[in-house]
Amino acid sequence: MKKTLVFTVDSQQPDLEKIKIAAKFIRKGGLVAFPTETVYGLGADALNAKAVLSLFEAKSRPLDNPPIVHVCKFEDVNTLAEKVSEEAKRLMKTFWPGPLTLILKRSHIVPDVTVASLDTIAIRMPRHNVALALIGESGCPISAPSANLAGKPSPTSARHVLDDLDGRIDAVLDAGPTHIGVESTVLDLTVDPPQVLRPGGTPYEDLLNAVRRVELNPVVVADRALPVEKARSPGVKHKHYAPNADVVVVEGEVEAVMRKMEELIRLYSEAGKKVGVLGTDETVRHYRTDVVRSMGSRSDLAGIARSLFRLLREFDAEGVDVIVAEGVPTEGLGLAVMNRLRKAAGYNIVKTSA
Ligand code: TXA
Ligand code: MG
Repeated sequence: MKKTLVFTVDSQQPDLEKIKIAAKFIRKGGLVAFPTETVYGLGADALNAKAVLSLFEAKSRPLDNPPIVHVCKFEDVNTLAEKVSEEAKRLMKTFWPGPLTLILKRSHIVPDVTVASLDTIAIRMPRHNVALALIGESGCPISAPSANLAGKPSPTSARHVLDDLDGRIDAVLDAGPTHIGVESTVLDLTVDPPQVLRPGGTPYEDLLNAVRRVELNPVVVADRALPVEKARSPGVKHKHYAPNADVVVVEGEVEAVMRKMEELIRLYSEAGKKVGVLGTDETVRHYRTDVVRSMGSRSDLAGIARSLFRLLREFDAEGVDVIVAEGVPTEGLGLAVMNRLRKAAGYNIVKTSA
């Protein structure tokens, strides 16, 4: 066990002294959790193979699932990637800093462990002053997967990070809850047309406006587990976002969803289970059971994305046995929300018809 230091910092103008201490940990091969605009990341020097290896260990993450490498300057991409196409440059200009991760051919200065021996690399520039300051002061690109134990919901606050990783990492920079709440969109530029491997903070609709052609990998929209070979992103084959409770997602038109939710709540309660309901502002007052929570308004999918992971963790803290969750529309950030919910449910989905 190490002692994990907690530094409280301002999200806009972080105290440089604290950032410098954190950066020193990174330079010495240590592990520092830090906020980004999406979720908290667990950072290590991306060019230090030993540090990256300890990152996998701290998270109990399988070695075949490479983390994202975070940069604070556009030029850094040139050293990490073999060639940077005009299209890649255009996307960086449009979306960086921001929640878009680009998959490019890797360069040879990158250690194998950093990219799980793939010939590609995932890179992004986060839109968060604490993250950018930490990368800048460290003077190296920072490998950072989400700062949760493998398989758990991603952390949207420093509290979540400590719940999973206290004693396993050197420090956490606490700048309050993250703004977007779901991870970055992962876009593979090594295939033609480019493919979204993971929906996230940059909506698909925004990408469609910015690039000539872009496809969704079948896994992104899947409502059942697909064979692994369909998934170009290594992370897809591992268990994800799973709270301790079982999850079931009810999808369809709102009225029918509410009726089905009520039916399931009754069945689970009769079976002696402690039931949690994940509803929306428009519906929660109709449900009567052990723990009822709203993700936010159906007219604000960004708000729903912001609260999703926190609520999954809260249900665990309440000790519910099963979470019955409402599906939401798959437009805008709703696509990322539904991708996480369906995975959290292990694709245990009930479809209703009106
Ligand atoms: O918002 C985010 O992306 C957060 C913050 C901390 O930046 N990071 C994050 O990292 O979610 P992580 O490691 O939990 O997820 C990285 C995803 C995984 O699904 C992984 O499989 C995929 O990116 N990935 C990484 N390298 C890849 C590659 N070379 N080819 C395809 N997918 C890759
Ligand atoms: Mg993750």
